[in-house]
Amino acid sequence: LNDVISIKDFQKKDIEFILNEAENLEKIAKSQEFSDELAGKILGMMFFEPSTRTRLSFETSMKRLGGNCVGFAGSSASSVSKGESLADTSKMFEAYSDALIIRHSLEGAAKFISDIVDVPVINAGDGAGQHPTQTLLDLYTIKRQFDKIKGLNVALVGDLKYGRTVHSLAYALGMFDAQMSFVSPDELKMPKETLHDLKKNNVKFHETNSLKDVIDEIDVLYVTRIQKERFPDEEEYSKIKGAYLIDHDLVKGKDLIVMHPLPRVDEISTDIDNTKYNKYFEQAFYGVPVRMAILKNIIKNKF
Ligand code: CP
Repeated sequence: LNDVISIKDFQKKDIEFILNEAENLEKIAKSQEFSDELAGKILGMMFFEPSTRTRLSFETSMKRLGGNCVGFAGSSASSVSKGESLADTSKMFEAYSDALIIRHSLEGAAKFISDIVDVPVINAGDGAGQHPTQTLLDLYTIKRQFDKIKGLNVALVGDLKYGRTVHSLAYALGMFDAQMSFVSPDELKMPKETLHDLKKNNVKFHETNSLKDVIDEIDVLYVTRIQKERFPDEEEYSKIKGAYLIDHDLVKGKDLIVMHPLPRVDEISTDIDNTKYNKYFEQAFYGVPVRMAILKNIIKNKF
C-alpha cells in the first residue's frame, strides 16, 4: 500500500500485519520510551475538521517513533482561509513532509490529494466516507479483548448513515468473518452501497432498529454518535437525537463490551465508565500503537 485511503484497499493479511506490528509497539506506546525508527522524518497534518483522538494520537505516535509533525488544526489557521485550494495546500505539505494526514468534510478528499502528491497520504476521516485508521484500532481493541475476531457477534449502533467509522469497520469485520447487527433508526441505516458490497462478499449481517432484539446475543456493542454536523436539516437531527441510550441497566449481567470511537454526546451514560463494560477509553489509547504501526510502515514503504 502506498496510501491509507479506504479499508477496502486492504487485504486481510495487510490488516493482520498492522495488528501484529501494533502489538510489538504497544510497550513503547505505554512507556516513556522513544524509538528512532522515524528519526528525521516529518509528518504533515491537515485537519480541516475538529479532532482530539486522531490528531493527538498520530502526533504522539510520530514523536514516539522519533519523528516530528507540522500542520494545522482548523483551516482558519492556514492560507486556505485566504482562498488557497486544497490541491495547492497539499503540494506545500508534500514539499515539507514525508507523509500527509488529512481530515476533511468532503468524501473523497484524501483520495483526491493522493492522486496529486507523491508522498503517502493517510485518510483521517473524509466526511461520511471512511475512517480506516480508526477501524484498525477498533479491530486491535477487539482482538486484545477476545484474542480473535472471527465468529464474534458485533452490533453497530446509532448513526450508520453518516458515521464514517462504521462504514470502514463493517467491511473489515466482514473480512474477519464476524457476524454483524446494524441497529439504527430507519432514517440512519447503513448506506445501500455498503450493504450491497457486504452481500456480494457473503458477509453475514442483519438490520434492525431495536437494540433489545440483539442485546442478549452480542459480544461487542459498538456505539456511535448521531453526526449532527452532517444533517442537511437540523430539525431532522432533533427528531432522531437520543434514539439510543446505552446505560448500565441495559448491559448489566450481559457478557459484552461497549466500544465507541468517541467523542460521545449522550449515547453512552457515564454510569458505564467505571464498569468492566467500558472499553472505549482503552480503545482510544490503542490509537497510539496502531498508528505507530501504520506510520512506521507507510513511511518506510513496507506494506
Ligand atoms: N474517533 C475519532 O476520530 O475521534 P476524533 O474526532 O476526536 O479524532
